[in-house]
Amino acid sequence: MRPTTARPGTAMITGVTGQDGSYLAELLLAKGYTVHGLMRRTSSFNTERIDHIYQDPHTPGRRLVLHHTDLSDGVSLVNLLREIRPDEVYNLGAQSHVRVSFDAPLHTADVTALGALRLLEAVRAAGLDTRVYQASSSEMFGATPPPQNEHSPFHPRSPYGCAKAMAYWSTVNYREAYGIYAVNGILFNHESPRRGETFVTRKITRAVARIEAGLQHELHLGNLDAVRDWGYAPEYVEAMWRMLQQQEPDDYVVATGVPATVRDFLAAAFGAAGLDWQRYVRHDPKYERPAEVDQLVGDATKARTLLGWEAAVHYDELARIMVEADMRRLADMPVRSRAGVAS
Ligand code: NAP
Ligand code: GDD
Repeated sequence: MRPTTARPGTAMITGVTGQDGSYLAELLLAKGYTVHGLMRRTSSFNTERIDHIYQDPHTPGRRLVLHHTDLSDGVSLVNLLREIRPDEVYNLGAQSHVRVSFDAPLHTADVTALGALRLLEAVRAAGLDTRVYQASSSEMFGATPPPQNEHSPFHPRSPYGCAKAMAYWSTVNYREAYGIYAVNGILFNHESPRRGETFVTRKITRAVARIEAGLQHELHLGNLDAVRDWGYAPEYVEAMWRMLQQQEPDDYVVATGVPATVRDFLAAAFGAAGLDWQRYVRHDPKYERPAEVDQLVGDATKARTLLGWEAAVHYDELARIMVEADMRRLADMPVRSRAGVAS
């Protein structure tokens, strides 16, 4: 591990308003970092996940600073890097929804692939000795059978997977060509109560809470046979940080190693509320993908051996955590705001 410096570090996080960005910002603030979070401008508030750690610009000695920019704007990335001079950059920003990437492939490539390249090039242009974390994905393995590890070939099955593969290789290339400390965390699916509502786990746990409250009667889903390796997001951001504290930059798979089908997750989530999922779930081909990734199960031996990182929460406990959080959230919600179904 890198020796701790006397000065607490400065970190920059793209995608700070996302699931992982919010947990990583919490983790780094707790470690004493000053955190600069990059967020895109939206017409309505997109800061719900970080509202609890927000610090007003007039707060003396504030350590969470937010900046508006977009991964499509390379010049703004150079300017921000020159201004902030971070010790560590975590590139978590992306169009991260696989199904949506089939509808918006060029936008996905622009943000998810070229955005990563713009950031790497900005680090080079700014001439900084900054360590870079790239949020790579198990989706790059696609059709390659499990278990997948750092040596498994990539065979992406979506525009998102293709974009992440380009970002992965750009990260390796900037490490090899320019000596930049740049790493890929190849993370398998990780979820939490802050997961976006249209990813399958959160769509399910949110539906369980609403069905239990009598607000919803059916849940429409696509392929229930897909196998995923679902872990708990707060544990995964710790692995990201550890990757940037090593002597040498390298790439790591982060996963639980525990396979589960969508059907298994349904049984765990509905079971946590004492419900039988088969009474409520309906098939809708709209949620199927032009090309599916059938099985993702990670082998995280390298992360366990070199980073000392291991997943503690597996899919069944994760489902319970998320169902309970969605039930609490619903109970706290004013009655007039309870309409609406995520798809
Ligand atoms: P997420 O919740 O979808 O967050 C994505 C973040 O990127 C959000 O803050 C989003 O902003 C931001 N973003 C989207 N388009 C942008 C743009 N054009 N410019 C700047 N920012 C933009 O994703 P996550 O689950 O936290 O995942 C974090 C990263 O890890 C992503 O790169 C994802 O692809 C990757 N990853 C995730 C998993 C997983 O299972 N969660 C697994 C492997 C890899 P808004 O809040 O405004 O939408
Ligand atoms: N979203 C969604 N909605 N997925 C469904 C549905 C549905 O109604 N019904 C079935 N599924 C299946 C999908 O076909 C897929 O096989 C599986 O559930 C998981 O889908 P998602 O939760 O959307 O996640 P993902 O595996 O496609 O992608 C996530 O994990 C990647 C890492 O492997 C995302 O977080 C990516 O950003 C991440 O890189």
